[in-house]
Amino acid sequence: SHDAAPGGGLGLPSPHERPYSAILDSRGTSEDSSRHLDLSVLQWPASDDFDYPKAFAEVDLDALARDVDAVLTTSQDWWPADFGHYGPLIVRMVWHCAGTYRIGDGRGGPSASLQRFAPVDSWPDNRNLDKARRLLWPVKKKYGRRISWADLMVFAGNRALESMGLRTFGYAGGRDEVYQADRVDWGPEQAWMADERHTGVHDLNGPLAADQLGLIYVNPEGPNTVPDPLMSARDIRDTFRRMGFNDEETVALIGGGHTFGKTHGVADPERYLGPEPAVADLEQQGFGWQGGHGTGQAGDTVTSGLDGTWTQTPTTWDNSYFRNLFQYEWDVALSPAGLWQWVPRGGAGAGTVPDAHDPAVRHAPTFLTTDLAFRVDPDYEPIARRFMEHPEQLAEAFARAWFKLTHIDMGPRERYLGPLVPQEHLVWQDPVPPPVRTEFSTSLTLDEITQLKHQILRSGRTIADLVSTAWASASTYRNSDRRGGSNGGRVRLEPQRSWEANDPETLHPVLQTLEELRPPNISMADLVVLGGCAAVEAAARKAGHEIDVPFTPGRIDASQAWTDPQWFAALEPLADGFRNYRSRRAQHLSERLLIDRASQLTLSAPEMTVLLGGLRALGIGRDGLGVLTATPGVLTNDFFVNLLDMRYHWTPATEKSSSEATFEGRDRSTGEVCWRAGRADLVFGSNPELRALSELYAADDAEPNFARDFVAAWDKVMNLGRWAQNRSER
Ligand code: HEM
Repeated sequence: SHDAAPGGGLGLPSPHERPYSAILDSRGTSEDSSRHLDLSVLQWPASDDFDYPKAFAEVDLDALARDVDAVLTTSQDWWPADFGHYGPLIVRMVWHCAGTYRIGDGRGGPSASLQRFAPVDSWPDNRNLDKARRLLWPVKKKYGRRISWADLMVFAGNRALESMGLRTFGYAGGRDEVYQADRVDWGPEQAWMADERHTGVHDLNGPLAADQLGLIYVNPEGPNTVPDPLMSARDIRDTFRRMGFNDEETVALIGGGHTFGKTHGVADPERYLGPEPAVADLEQQGFGWQGGHGTGQAGDTVTSGLDGTWTQTPTTWDNSYFRNLFQYEWDVALSPAGLWQWVPRGGAGAGTVPDAHDPAVRHAPTFLTTDLAFRVDPDYEPIARRFMEHPEQLAEAFARAWFKLTHIDMGPRERYLGPLVPQEHLVWQDPVPPPVRTEFSTSLTLDEITQLKHQILRSGRTIADLVSTAWASASTYRNSDRRGGSNGGRVRLEPQRSWEANDPETLHPVLQTLEELRPPNISMADLVVLGGCAAVEAAARKAGHEIDVPFTPGRIDASQAWTDPQWFAALEPLADGFRNYRSRRAQHLSERLLIDRASQLTLSAPEMTVLLGGLRALGIGRDGLGVLTATPGVLTNDFFVNLLDMRYHWTPATEKSSSEATFEGRDRSTGEVCWRAGRADLVFGSNPELRALSELYAADDAEPNFARDFVAAWDKVMNLGRWAQNRSER
C-alpha cells in the first residue's frame, strides 16, 4: 500500500508548486514544445558491436586531464565562471548526477546519465547544470565514443577537485554511453517540489531517497522549508543512508562539497527564471531557466534562490567550512529571494569572503539549514568537530566518500577500466578474491562434471530444492547497479543465507549436502549453480526432452570477512514473483514487483514468461502457490495449459484488492478447488500481452520449444553479473 499523507504528514503547504505535468504534456503550441517527443514509437537498435573498453583504453588520461583543466579555468562569455573557476559548478553537477543513486533498488547514479535526459534534466535542483554539461561539450566532441558522457562527467568531477587542491582517491572508466532516458520511478507526485512520499513524522517511503519531487536529496531550507537544523539532520541522515552513506561519509561529503563555490539567489527563481529545459523553446537548444533578472548570468545568476558563499577560499580545498561552522554563532536570515539561510551573529565574518565577480566587494559567510545540522545533531557534531581539528582526516574521508559516490553504481571492480583504479578492495564493491590458481574450477573435466551431477541428483535433495537454491544465488542480480548474482557464492554467507525469501530451512540442508560433495577444484558458487543445472536437466528428461543445460564454471567464493551484512542487506528481495514470495514489507502489487525483478534480471517478456511457467512446473512457488501441475519436478508446460483451461474458474480466496491476494481455481462442474495461485500467476492470463505469450507456450505445438526456451532463460540468469568471465570471453 502506498498511503503517504499529502504535505509530508507535517501539515505544511508544499512550496513553489509548479505542475509537473508541464513536463509530460506539451506547453504552448505543439510546435514549440518539440523537446518532448515520444521516440518510443521508433525502433531503438540494440547497441552495435562497438567495443567501449577497447576504445577507452586508447584514451590518454593525462591528455584528457589537460583538456578538462583548460575548460575549468577558461571563462566563457555565455556563462562566466564564478571566481574564475568552473570547479565548484562541475562538482555540484557530478554530485547531482551521482546523488540520484539509491541502495534500495540500485537505480540512479552517474552511469545512467539521467541528468542529460528528461525529467531529471529539468528538476528544480538541477537548475543551471545544463550550462555545466555544455561546458564539457568541446572535450566530448574531441574524444567522441572513446569516452562516454558518464565517464567524462565523473572524470571532470575529479579534475575539478584536483585542480582546487584535493588529492582524489581514484577514478574508473567503464560506464557505457547512454542515448535514452531511463524510466525510473521518481515518486507519486505531479508537481515540482510536491511531497506525497512521507508518512508519520516525516518517514520516507522506499525505495525513494529524495525528500521532494525534483530534489536530489533534502530541502536546503529545512524540512518542507522550515529552517530547523535538528529536524533537517534527521532528513539528511535518512536520505544519505538511502544513498549508501553513514554519518561520517555524509558529514565529509556535504562539508567537503560546500568548501567550494556559492549559492545563487539574488532574485526569486519562481519569478525570474524561464521554463526548465524540458519545456523551454526550441531555439534554446536544450538550455532552460533563461534568466530574467538583470543579465541572467555572472553576478545576476539565479539558481536555488539561496545566496551566499560558505568559505573565505571558495576554489581551494581546505577545512574552512568546518572552521566557519564552529567559529561563528549563526542566525537565520532571508536570502534576497526570500528563502531561509543562516548568517554569523552580530555581523561577524563581514568582509572575509570574496565576491564571485566583483573584486571590490566582500561578504560574510553564509550557511544553509542543512549545514547547521552538523552543529546541532548529537551524532554529527563530534564528527564535524573532528574534521575541524584534523584536516587530514577530512581530506581522506571526503576523497573516499567521493570515490564511492561516483562509482557505487558500477558494481564489482572487474568492471573498472583505466590506470587510475585504486588497488584497495572496498567492502561496498562486494569484492570477490581473484582466482588463486588460474586453473581453478575451469580445470574440471567434462567427466568430472557429469559425475558430480549424478552425485548431486542421488543425494536425496529434490529437484525443487536444488533449483530454488541455484535461483536464490543467481537471482539477486540487479542490472541497475550490477550488484548480486551467483559469483561470490554469497548465498552461503550472512545475510543472504538467512533471508526469508530463501527459506533457510530448505536452503541450509541443500548447502550442507553440496558442501559435503564438493571436490577441491570447484567453488561452492559453481556447485550451487551446477546443482540447479543438473536438476533442470533431470526434470527435462522426465518430460521426455534430452537437453544439455549449459554450465560455465569459474565462479569464485567470497568470504564472510569481505561481506558486510548491513551493506549487503539492500539486495534482499522483498518480493520475488518467480518464487511466489512476498514479505510483509513489500509495497506495490505482486505482478508489478515481478516485472521490476524481471527487468533487473535483464529478461525480455518471453524470457520472463517461460521462466516463471517453467519454475512452477519444477515445483517452485511458496507453499505450492501457483504450482499448477500434478507432476511437480517435471519440466512440462502445465502451468500455461492449466492457467488457460476453461475447465477452471478463478475466485479470490482472500481480500481481492489486497496486494497479497491469493486465488482458487475451481473445477466448473464439481466446484472442487484444484489450484491455488497468486497475483504474479494470474497476471499471465489477465494481461493481454502476457496472455498471448502464455498461449504460445500452452499450445499443443509448444514443446519442445518451451523446454529449450526455458533452459536458455535459466542459463542467462545463472550467468548474470559474471564480469570477469564475460570480459575474458570478449
Ligand atoms: C551548491 C544544497 C550536498 C556540492 C549548493 C546549493 C544548494 C546546495 C542549495 C546552491 C545552488 C545554487 O544556488 O547555485 C545542498 C544540500 C546538500 C548538499 C541541501 C545536502 C544536504 C552537497 C554535496 C556536495 C555539494 C554532498 C559535494 C560533494 C556543492 C557545490 C556547490 C553546491 C560544489 C556550489 C556550486 C557552485 O558554486 O555553482 N548545494 N548541497 N553539495 N553544492 Fe550542495
